[in-house]
Amino acid sequence: MSVVLSFADVSLVRDGRAILNHLNWHVDSSQRWVILGPNGAGKTSLLRIAAAQLHPSQGSASILEKTLGKSEISEIRNRIGFASSAQSKRIPANESVLDTVLTAAHGVEGRWNETYENIDIRRAERVLAEWNLLEFRDHLFGTLSDGERKRVLIARAVMTDPEVLLLDEPAASLDVGAREQLLQLLEGYASSPFSPAMIMVTHHVEEIPEGFTHVMLLKEGRVTAAGEIADILTSENLTSTFGVPLLVSHEGGRYWARMVR
Ligand SMILES: Nc1ncnc2c1ncn2[C@@H]1O[C@H](COP(=O)(O)OP(=O)(O)OP(=O)(O)O)[C@@H](O)[C@H]1O
Ligand SMILES: [Mg+2]
Repeated sequence: MSVVLSFADVSLVRDGRAILNHLNWHVDSSQRWVILGPNGAGKTSLLRIAAAQLHPSQGSASILEKTLGKSEISEIRNRIGFASSAQSKRIPANESVLDTVLTAAHGVEGRWNETYENIDIRRAERVLAEWNLLEFRDHLFGTLSDGERKRVLIARAVMTDPEVLLLDEPAASLDVGAREQLLQLLEGYASSPFSPAMIMVTHHVEEIPEGFTHVMLLKEGRVTAAGEIADILTSENLTSTFGVPLLVSHEGGRYWARMVR
């Protein structure tokens, strides 16, 4: 077990406002974290620091044992997988699904003149199979449904065999069938001891895949509670994080939340 992330007193300030406020956080390689919190709580900003895309304004953030601002971070970027809908906009619409995944090997979006080894192509095909995408191999990214795109972006994020996988709202906008299928894939991935550490942002406790171990609740840039899911995902903690009376229930490894009436 190794330390994947270590945040000490991390704040992120924009326009004089603390988007993230004095955060302390440790993630080990065996852990799978969910981040929950209202709109604007700072979830995506937190993931972007974890992806080495943003530096904290104060405090210290180490990712894969490199401290942001003190180490050469280009070297760790390809050890981090990051799938978000913002990325979806950067993939050319006429890129094939295979190339969308394959180009992650060179850290580029859109195939140009790079050469790829057979081993890369075979790995991309294996990843496509793993995420139920082989039938879309030659489809164009721009023609895919939202659910298919989300899976392609996750496949792209795992193409480089990352040591940490960051997912920003992977199930947002999916229909219930597509959501459940994606959760099943994420469950299988999260449960494997060979998978990397995972950090997933979501808005719904129903979208926490089995196999996830920890949760951070974030409100207005501050951690309201963090730790093992069974201890932290309580009605009391969700109520104080979301500011409405919520009742949490769970069954068979899945969670639900609804308003107390
Ligand atoms: N570059 C920036 N300049 C100013 N404000 C910013 C900047 N980036 C983010 N913010 C603000 O910081 C807050 C947190 O944004 P962030 O995208 O991290 O929230 P979030 O928790 O991911 O929200 P959502 O659930 O809606 O995706 C928001 O109020 C946002 O407007
Ligand atoms: Mg967000």
